[in-house]
Amino acid sequence: MENLLLKQIIALTNKSNPLISNLANAAAVLANYENINWCGFYLVEGDNLYLGPFQGEPACTVIPKGKGVCGKAFEEKKSVIVKNVKKFKGHIACSTMSRSEIVVPIISGGEVKAVIDIDAPVINRFDDKDREIIEEIAGFLAKLFIEGNVKDNHKDEEKNKPEAAIEKLREDYDL
Ligand code: SME
Repeated sequence: MENLLLKQIIALTNKSNPLISNLANAAAVLANYENINWCGFYLVEGDNLYLGPFQGEPACTVIPKGKGVCGKAFEEKKSVIVKNVKKFKGHIACSTMSRSEIVVPIISGGEVKAVIDIDAPVINRFDDKDREIIEEIAGFLAKLFIEGNVKDNHKDEEKNKPEAAIEKLREDYDL
C-alpha cells in the first residue's frame, strides 16, 4: 500500500536543511492523519525526551526515559500502541482530549534519536496497520539524523550529502 504521508514528507524534507525545519513540516503532514488531536516529535537529549515540532495543544516539555508512553518507547526501542490511555499506568496526560495513543521511535545507528507521538480523541484508534505506516515514516526520518548532537546536524557539510537510501525512496515515489 502506498504511504501517502511518507510521500509528502519525502517531498518536503531535505538533509541539507536543519533537522528542526524538516521535523516541523513532517509534523504538519502527520496532522493530516485521520481522527487525531495531537501529533509531533520528542527529541532525545541524554536520558530525556524534549518536546520538538508538533501540531495540537501545548504539551509537556520534558519526558524522562521510561516515563509515560513516549518514555517507554524510548527505553524499549520499540513502538507502543495504547488502546485506552486511562488504562496505561504512568500515562502522561498532555491533552484532556486524548483517549488512545501511538508512539514510534526513530532509531539511527541503533540509538533512539526521537519519537513520533500521535494522540487520538477516541479509544482504540491505532492498530498494526497504523504502526506500519508510522514506522515506515520513522525509518525515513531516521536518515535525517546524524550521530551526536542533533542540533548541529545542518552544519556538517560532509554528512549532508544525500544518502543512496533517500535517493532510492525518491525514485520509488517518482519525486
Ligand atoms: N501521553 C504522552 C505524553 C505526550 S503527549 O501525549 C503529547 C506520554 O504518556 O508519554
